[in-house]
Amino acid sequence: MNTKTRIRKIGVIGFGVMGSGIAQAAAMSGFETIVRDVHIDFIEIGMQKIKNSLERLVQNYARTGGKKGISKETEASTLANLKTTLYLKELIETDIIIEAIVERQDEKAKLFDTLSKLGYSGLLVSNTSSISITKLGASFKYPERFMGMHFMNPVPLQKGVELIRGLSTSDDTYTAVSRLAKDMGKTVINAKDKAGFGINRMFIPFLNEAIKVVEEEILSPEDADKATICLGHKMGPIATADYIGLDTVLFICNILEEGLGSAYKAAPLLKRMVDAGYLGVKTGKGFYVYEEGKSINVNPDIRRFIK
Ligand SMILES: NC(=O)c1ccc[n+]([C@@H]2O[C@H](COP(=O)([O-])OP(=O)(O)OC[C@H]3O[C@@H](n4cnc5c(N)ncnc54)[C@H](O)[C@@H]3O)[C@@H](O)[C@H]2O)c1
Repeated sequence: MNTKTRIRKIGVIGFGVMGSGIAQAAAMSGFETIVRDVHIDFIEIGMQKIKNSLERLVQNYARTGGKKGISKETEASTLANLKTTLYLKELIETDIIIEAIVERQDEKAKLFDTLSKLGYSGLLVSNTSSISITKLGASFKYPERFMGMHFMNPVPLQKGVELIRGLSTSDDTYTAVSRLAKDMGKTVINAKDKAGFGINRMFIPFLNEAIKVVEEEILSPEDADKATICLGHKMGPIATADYIGLDTVLFICNILEEGLGSAYKAAPLLKRMVDAGYLGVKTGKGFYVYEEGKSINVNPDIRRFIK
């Protein structure tokens, strides 16, 4: 692909928390979008999440007389723009691939190597929260067409997107990706390729510290959340960590510690939660217990652990 031409067709790899949001936002902005995950169950869950989100946006549109949300027509065109697949080769003809698989360098590198071998030659961006863009780009045959495009959760509602250039990213790639961000209605935040980039360098230590405050029994999980809501935050740090995914939070803590030193070390309780498989909203249990994505109470194991 000539990187100066406009992007029309978008591939998304990974249909989890972020991939589903990115695919929805791309399709809502009018892009032909094809998403790939490795198992049919993940595809069904991802599609259902998108349908539920669109339904809520349509209700919001009706409630606000069209000031917020989306119309029925946009809902229909978004769904018409979306395709799913289990096969990577169906993404080869896209203009850009947005990678949103698990936060593991080895998995991402393996995927980029496979894309190179399949002959993919379009733009490739990673939604990584923390892994070095220069390092990841080295696994793609065309590192000049690679960069970081870090969306925020939930993607259809959050305006910001952090753009990170690797050492080899070309100007054409940066121009095309920042234009795509704007075409998706996003506000661009440019960050350097350093541990945690800009946003997570500031934000993840805050979540990690809140988990330490709970672990040291200074505040209960509910009070830790209440305290920052009183400061004007929309969601408290413990609920936010559950929402992001505790495995992802732990991974980013580890990257920050590796790059910046032991002050960034993950809270022992965070490690234990991940060891127990309590990953937050996506597994139905984290610091809180969830039913249909809504928290119902504090995880009883946490109460026992910190007693
Ligand atoms: N969760 C957040 O709030 C957040 C915010 C910004 C960025 N991120 C980043 O986005 C990426 C995805 O995070 P997530 O929270 O959506 O993870 P997730 O665990 O919810 O989803 C990952 C999905 O990728 C799929 N997958 C794994 N390997 C695959 C492959 N080779 N091909 C296709 N699909 C594959 C998994 O089956 C799963 O459905 C990570 O790099 C993460 O750091 C997450």
